[in-house]
Amino acid sequence: MSRFLVTAPIPALGLELLRAAGEVAVLPEPPDPAALADLCASGEYDVVLTQLGDPVDAALLARAQVRGVSNFAVGYNNIDVPAATSRGILVGNTPGVLTDATADVAMLLILGTARRVIEADSMVRDGRFHGWAPELMLGRDVSSQVLGLAGFGRIARATARRALGFGMEVLFSPRPPAERHVSDEELGEFAGRVRQVPWAELVQRSDFLSLHVPLNEQTRHLVDADVLARMKPEAILVNTARGPIVDEQALVAALREGTIGGAGLDVYEDEPRLAPGLAELPNTVLLPHVGSATVPVRNEMARLSALNAIAMAKGELPPHPVNPEAWHQTRA
Ligand code: GLV
Ligand code: GLV
Repeated sequence: MSRFLVTAPIPALGLELLRAAGEVAVLPEPPDPAALADLCASGEYDVVLTQLGDPVDAALLARAQVRGVSNFAVGYNNIDVPAATSRGILVGNTPGVLTDATADVAMLLILGTARRVIEADSMVRDGRFHGWAPELMLGRDVSSQVLGLAGFGRIARATARRALGFGMEVLFSPRPPAERHVSDEELGEFAGRVRQVPWAELVQRSDFLSLHVPLNEQTRHLVDADVLARMKPEAILVNTARGPIVDEQALVAALREGTIGGAGLDVYEDEPRLAPGLAELPNTVLLPHVGSATVPVRNEMARLSALNAIAMAKGELPPHPVNPEAWHQTRA
Protein backbone atom coordinates (compact mmCIF):
# COMPACT_ATOMS: atom_id res chain seq x y z
CA MET A 1 0.00 0.00 0.00
CA SER A 2 1.54 3.32 -1.07
CA ARG A 3 1.53 6.16 1.43
CA PHE A 4 1.23 9.77 0.30
CA LEU A 5 1.67 13.03 2.15
CA VAL A 6 -0.07 15.98 0.48
CA THR A 7 1.08 19.26 2.03
CA ALA A 8 -2.06 21.28 1.18
CA PRO A 9 -5.51 20.46 -0.19
CA ILE A 10 -5.50 19.99 -3.97
CA PRO A 11 -8.50 19.55 -6.33
CA ALA A 12 -10.52 16.42 -5.50
CA LEU A 13 -9.67 14.71 -8.76
CA GLY A 14 -6.03 14.39 -7.66
CA LEU A 15 -6.90 13.21 -4.17
CA GLU A 16 -9.25 10.56 -5.58
CA LEU A 17 -6.49 9.16 -7.76
CA LEU A 18 -4.13 9.03 -4.79
CA ARG A 19 -6.75 7.43 -2.52
CA ALA A 20 -7.38 4.74 -5.12
CA ALA A 21 -3.64 3.97 -5.03
CA GLY A 22 -2.97 4.07 -1.31
CA GLU A 23 -3.25 5.94 1.96
CA VAL A 24 -3.36 9.71 1.79
CA ALA A 25 -2.65 12.28 4.49
CA VAL A 26 -3.67 15.81 3.47
CA LEU A 27 -2.47 18.70 5.60
CA PRO A 28 -4.92 21.61 5.98
CA GLU A 29 -2.16 24.04 4.90
CA PRO A 30 1.54 23.78 4.02
CA PRO A 31 3.61 22.96 7.15
CA ASP A 32 6.48 25.14 8.30
CA PRO A 33 9.87 24.03 6.95
CA ALA A 34 10.93 22.16 10.11
CA ALA A 35 7.63 20.27 10.29
CA LEU A 36 7.87 19.38 6.60
CA ALA A 37 11.40 18.04 7.10
CA ASP A 38 10.26 15.94 10.08
CA LEU A 39 7.31 14.52 8.15
CA CYS A 40 9.55 13.58 5.22
CA ALA A 41 12.03 11.94 7.64
CA SER A 42 9.34 10.02 9.57
CA GLY A 43 9.41 6.99 7.28
CA GLU A 44 5.61 7.13 7.14
CA TYR A 45 5.36 8.30 3.53
CA ASP A 46 6.59 7.01 0.18
CA VAL A 47 5.98 10.24 -1.70
CA VAL A 48 5.33 13.82 -0.69
CA LEU A 49 3.16 16.02 -2.92
CA THR A 50 4.43 19.56 -2.40
CA GLN A 51 3.35 23.12 -3.16
CA LEU A 52 5.65 25.69 -4.75
CA GLY A 53 6.25 27.40 -1.41
CA ASP A 54 7.39 24.19 0.34
CA PRO A 55 11.18 24.32 0.73
CA VAL A 56 12.62 20.91 -0.14
CA ASP A 57 16.26 21.72 0.50
CA ALA A 58 19.42 19.65 0.85
CA ALA A 59 19.04 19.34 4.64
CA LEU A 60 15.48 18.01 4.31
CA LEU A 61 16.52 15.61 1.54
CA ALA A 62 19.48 14.33 3.59
CA ARG A 63 17.05 13.04 6.24
CA ALA A 64 14.14 12.21 3.95
CA GLN A 65 12.76 8.68 3.79
CA VAL A 66 10.69 9.27 0.67
CA ARG A 67 11.12 7.94 -2.86
CA GLY A 68 9.81 10.98 -4.58
CA VAL A 69 8.70 14.60 -4.40
CA SER A 70 5.80 15.49 -6.67
CA ASN A 71 5.53 19.26 -7.04
CA PHE A 72 2.10 20.75 -7.76
CA ALA A 73 3.64 23.27 -10.21
CA VAL A 74 5.67 23.48 -13.37
CA GLY A 75 8.36 25.48 -11.57
CA TYR A 76 10.53 23.55 -9.11
CA ASN A 77 12.89 26.18 -7.71
CA ASN A 78 11.62 25.24 -4.22
CA ILE A 79 13.37 21.87 -4.58
CA ASP A 80 17.12 21.24 -4.52
CA VAL A 81 17.04 18.92 -7.53
CA PRO A 82 20.77 18.01 -7.59
CA ALA A 83 20.54 17.03 -3.90
CA ALA A 84 17.46 14.90 -4.64
CA THR A 85 19.18 13.24 -7.59
CA SER A 86 22.27 12.42 -5.55
CA ARG A 87 20.01 10.56 -3.09
CA GLY A 88 18.04 8.78 -5.79
CA ILE A 89 14.90 10.76 -4.94
CA LEU A 90 12.72 11.51 -7.95
CA VAL A 91 11.17 14.93 -8.52
CA GLY A 92 8.09 15.46 -10.69
CA ASN A 93 6.33 18.58 -12.00
CA THR A 94 3.27 19.53 -14.07
CA PRO A 95 4.44 20.98 -17.41
CA GLY A 96 2.28 21.73 -20.44
CA VAL A 97 -1.15 21.93 -18.85
CA LEU A 98 -0.72 25.49 -17.57
CA THR A 99 1.04 26.98 -20.59
CA ASP A 100 -1.94 28.75 -22.18
CA ALA A 101 -3.45 29.89 -18.89
CA THR A 102 -0.17 31.49 -17.82
CA ALA A 103 0.35 33.11 -21.23
CA ASP A 104 -3.18 34.52 -20.93
CA VAL A 105 -2.15 36.19 -17.69
CA ALA A 106 1.02 37.58 -19.28
CA MET A 107 -1.14 39.09 -22.04
CA LEU A 108 -3.65 40.33 -19.48
CA LEU A 109 -0.84 42.13 -17.62
CA ILE A 110 0.47 43.62 -20.88
CA LEU A 111 -2.99 44.95 -21.79
CA GLY A 112 -3.91 45.84 -18.23
CA THR A 113 -0.82 47.98 -17.69
CA ALA A 114 -1.00 49.53 -21.19
CA ARG A 115 -4.63 50.57 -20.70
CA ARG A 116 -4.40 51.35 -16.97
CA VAL A 117 -7.15 48.91 -16.07
CA ILE A 118 -6.74 49.17 -12.29
CA GLU A 119 -6.78 52.97 -12.24
CA ALA A 120 -9.71 52.98 -14.66
CA ASP A 121 -11.71 50.44 -12.67
CA SER A 122 -11.10 52.36 -9.45
CA MET A 123 -12.27 55.56 -11.09
CA VAL A 124 -15.63 54.01 -11.92
CA ARG A 125 -16.09 52.33 -8.55
CA ASP A 126 -15.07 55.44 -6.63
CA GLY A 127 -17.66 57.58 -8.43
CA ARG A 128 -15.01 59.64 -10.22
CA PHE A 129 -16.31 58.81 -13.72
CA HIS A 130 -18.19 61.90 -14.85
CA GLY A 131 -18.69 60.98 -18.50
CA TRP A 132 -16.69 60.38 -21.66
CA ALA A 133 -13.92 62.89 -22.25
CA PRO A 134 -11.34 63.22 -25.04
CA GLU A 135 -8.39 62.89 -22.71
CA LEU A 136 -9.78 60.65 -20.00
CA MET A 137 -7.53 57.83 -18.79
CA LEU A 138 -5.31 57.74 -21.85
CA GLY A 139 -3.11 54.69 -22.11
CA ARG A 140 -0.84 53.13 -24.66
CA ASP A 141 -1.24 50.97 -27.73
CA VAL A 142 0.20 47.49 -27.78
CA SER A 143 0.07 47.05 -31.57
CA SER A 144 3.37 47.89 -33.26
CA GLN A 145 5.07 47.92 -29.87
CA VAL A 146 8.02 45.68 -29.14
CA LEU A 147 7.41 42.76 -26.80
CA GLY A 148 10.66 41.33 -25.49
CA LEU A 149 10.48 37.79 -24.16
CA ALA A 150 13.11 36.70 -21.68
CA GLY A 151 13.13 32.94 -22.29
CA PHE A 152 11.63 31.00 -25.17
CA GLY A 153 10.06 27.94 -23.60
CA ARG A 154 6.45 26.84 -23.77
CA ILE A 155 4.95 29.80 -21.91
CA ALA A 156 7.04 32.38 -23.78
CA ARG A 157 5.98 30.86 -27.11
CA ALA A 158 2.32 30.86 -26.11
CA THR A 159 2.71 34.53 -25.13
CA ALA A 160 4.39 35.26 -28.49
CA ARG A 161 1.44 33.68 -30.29
CA ARG A 162 -0.97 35.97 -28.45
CA ALA A 163 1.17 39.09 -28.89
CA LEU A 164 1.51 38.49 -32.65
CA GLY A 165 -2.28 38.34 -32.77
CA PHE A 166 -2.33 41.79 -31.18
CA GLY A 167 0.06 43.13 -33.83
CA MET A 168 3.10 43.36 -31.57
CA GLU A 169 6.67 42.99 -32.78
CA VAL A 170 8.15 40.07 -30.84
CA LEU A 171 11.83 39.76 -29.91
CA PHE A 172 13.26 37.12 -27.61
CA SER A 173 16.37 36.11 -25.80
CA PRO A 174 16.20 32.37 -25.06
CA ARG A 175 18.47 31.97 -22.06
CA PRO A 176 19.27 35.32 -20.51
CA PRO A 177 21.74 36.52 -19.45
CA ALA A 178 23.63 33.83 -21.44
CA GLU A 179 23.34 33.46 -25.20
CA ARG A 180 22.16 30.39 -27.08
CA HIS A 181 21.29 30.46 -30.75
CA VAL A 182 17.84 29.17 -31.66
CA SER A 183 17.79 27.76 -35.19
CA ASP A 184 14.95 28.36 -37.65
CA GLU A 185 14.08 24.71 -37.30
CA GLU A 186 13.69 25.10 -33.53
CA LEU A 187 11.65 28.26 -34.08
CA GLY A 188 9.10 26.23 -36.03
CA GLU A 189 5.87 28.19 -36.51
CA PHE A 190 7.69 31.35 -35.33
CA ALA A 191 10.42 31.34 -38.00
CA GLY A 192 10.39 34.74 -39.71
CA ARG A 193 7.79 36.06 -37.23
CA VAL A 194 9.88 36.62 -34.11
CA ARG A 195 13.54 37.54 -33.82
CA GLN A 196 16.27 36.54 -31.41
CA VAL A 197 18.43 39.33 -30.00
CA PRO A 198 21.08 39.41 -27.27
CA TRP A 199 19.78 40.03 -23.73
CA ALA A 200 21.31 43.53 -23.57
CA GLU A 201 19.49 44.49 -26.77
CA LEU A 202 16.23 42.96 -25.56
CA VAL A 203 16.41 45.11 -22.43
CA GLN A 204 17.02 48.28 -24.44
CA ARG A 205 14.49 47.71 -27.21
CA SER A 206 11.47 46.32 -25.37
CA ASP A 207 8.38 48.44 -24.84
CA PHE A 208 7.09 45.48 -22.83
CA LEU A 209 9.59 43.06 -21.28
CA SER A 210 8.00 39.78 -20.18
CA LEU A 211 9.87 37.21 -18.10
CA HIS A 212 9.58 33.49 -18.92
CA VAL A 213 12.68 31.92 -17.44
CA PRO A 214 12.93 29.40 -14.60
CA LEU A 215 14.29 30.72 -11.31
CA ASN A 216 17.82 29.47 -10.67
CA GLU A 217 21.19 30.92 -9.70
CA GLN A 218 21.65 32.33 -13.25
CA THR A 219 18.31 34.12 -13.27
CA ARG A 220 18.02 35.35 -9.66
CA HIS A 221 17.82 39.16 -9.91
CA LEU A 222 18.20 38.93 -13.70
CA VAL A 223 16.29 42.23 -13.67
CA ASP A 224 18.20 44.41 -11.23
CA ALA A 225 18.74 48.18 -10.88
CA ASP A 226 21.26 48.12 -13.71
CA VAL A 227 18.89 46.37 -16.14
CA LEU A 228 16.00 48.63 -15.11
CA ALA A 229 18.18 51.66 -15.81
CA ARG A 230 18.85 50.39 -19.34
CA MET A 231 15.15 49.88 -20.15
CA LYS A 232 13.16 52.54 -21.99
CA PRO A 233 11.65 55.13 -19.64
CA GLU A 234 8.15 54.16 -20.77
CA ALA A 235 8.81 50.39 -20.77
CA ILE A 236 6.60 48.00 -18.83
CA LEU A 237 7.96 44.95 -17.02
CA VAL A 238 5.74 41.85 -16.86
CA ASN A 239 6.51 38.92 -14.56
CA THR A 240 4.45 35.71 -14.55
CA ALA A 241 7.46 33.47 -13.79
CA ARG A 242 9.02 33.76 -10.35
CA GLY A 243 9.38 36.82 -8.12
CA PRO A 244 13.11 36.58 -7.28
CA ILE A 245 13.99 36.96 -10.99
CA VAL A 246 13.38 40.67 -10.29
CA ASP A 247 15.04 42.76 -7.59
CA GLU A 248 11.71 43.99 -6.28
CA GLN A 249 13.11 46.81 -4.17
CA ALA A 250 15.00 48.13 -7.20
CA LEU A 251 11.79 47.81 -9.21
CA VAL A 252 9.85 49.93 -6.71
CA ALA A 253 12.55 52.61 -6.91
CA ALA A 254 12.53 52.49 -10.74
CA LEU A 255 8.74 52.80 -10.88
CA ARG A 256 8.73 55.64 -8.39
CA GLU A 257 11.47 57.58 -10.15
CA GLY A 258 10.12 57.02 -13.66
CA THR A 259 13.12 54.93 -14.73
CA ILE A 260 10.53 52.65 -16.34
CA GLY A 261 6.86 53.20 -17.05
CA GLY A 262 5.05 50.43 -15.22
CA ALA A 263 4.90 46.82 -14.13
CA GLY A 264 2.44 43.95 -14.31
CA LEU A 265 3.24 41.32 -11.72
CA ASP A 266 1.76 37.95 -10.85
CA VAL A 267 4.68 36.87 -8.66
CA TYR A 268 6.75 38.53 -5.92
CA GLU A 269 10.18 38.16 -4.47
CA ASP A 270 9.01 37.15 -1.00
CA GLU A 271 5.45 35.91 -1.51
CA PRO A 272 2.98 36.76 -0.18
CA ARG A 273 4.79 39.88 1.08
CA LEU A 274 5.32 42.84 -1.23
CA ALA A 275 8.32 45.15 -1.29
CA PRO A 276 7.51 48.34 0.67
CA GLY A 277 5.84 50.90 -1.55
CA LEU A 278 4.88 48.53 -4.38
CA ALA A 279 1.19 48.46 -3.54
CA GLU A 280 1.00 52.27 -3.46
CA LEU A 281 2.25 52.72 -7.04
CA PRO A 282 -0.50 53.53 -9.55
CA ASN A 283 1.46 52.30 -12.59
CA THR A 284 1.25 48.63 -11.58
CA VAL A 285 -1.15 45.74 -11.97
CA LEU A 286 -0.65 43.28 -9.12
CA LEU A 287 -2.12 39.78 -9.18
CA PRO A 288 -1.90 37.09 -6.46
CA HIS A 289 0.10 34.40 -8.35
CA VAL A 290 -2.85 33.19 -10.43
CA GLY A 291 -1.13 32.33 -13.72
CA SER A 292 -2.44 28.77 -13.70
CA ALA A 293 -5.59 29.49 -11.70
CA THR A 294 -8.42 28.16 -13.85
CA VAL A 295 -10.60 25.23 -12.82
CA PRO A 296 -9.58 22.94 -15.72
CA VAL A 297 -5.88 23.76 -15.35
CA ARG A 298 -5.79 23.17 -11.60
CA ASN A 299 -7.65 19.88 -12.15
CA GLU A 300 -5.02 18.85 -14.70
CA MET A 301 -2.23 19.86 -12.34
CA ALA A 302 -3.87 17.73 -9.63
CA ARG A 303 -4.11 14.80 -12.03
CA LEU A 304 -0.50 15.06 -13.23
CA SER A 305 0.94 15.54 -9.76
CA ALA A 306 -1.07 12.54 -8.51
CA LEU A 307 0.05 10.36 -11.44
CA ASN A 308 3.66 11.40 -10.82
CA ALA A 309 3.30 10.55 -7.12
CA ILE A 310 1.66 7.17 -7.77
CA ALA A 311 4.38 6.11 -10.22
CA MET A 312 7.15 7.21 -7.87
CA ALA A 313 5.61 5.31 -4.95
CA LYS A 314 5.63 2.14 -7.05
CA GLY A 315 9.26 2.68 -8.02
CA GLU A 316 8.31 3.54 -11.58
CA LEU A 317 9.49 6.44 -13.70
CA PRO A 318 6.74 9.11 -13.40
CA PRO A 319 5.12 10.65 -16.50
CA HIS A 320 6.78 14.04 -15.85
CA PRO A 321 10.11 13.55 -14.12
CA VAL A 322 12.38 16.54 -13.53
CA ASN A 323 15.37 14.28 -12.79
CA PRO A 324 14.85 10.96 -14.60
CA GLU A 325 18.54 10.22 -13.91
CA ALA A 326 17.59 9.66 -10.24
CA TRP A 327 15.45 6.72 -11.35
CA HIS A 328 17.99 5.28 -13.80
CA GLN A 329 20.69 5.50 -11.18
CA THR A 330 18.73 3.55 -8.54
CA ARG A 331 18.34 0.84 -11.19
CA ALA A 332 21.97 0.75 -12.25
C1 GLV B 1 3.16 28.08 -10.81
O1 GLV B 1 3.72 29.12 -10.57
C2 GLV B 1 3.84 26.93 -11.33
O2 GLV B 1 5.08 26.90 -11.38
O3 GLV B 1 3.14 25.97 -11.70
C1 GLV C 1 7.20 26.26 -18.69
O1 GLV C 1 6.25 25.50 -18.77
C2 GLV C 1 7.87 26.79 -19.88
O2 GLV C 1 8.52 25.98 -20.54
O3 GLV C 1 7.73 27.97 -20.20
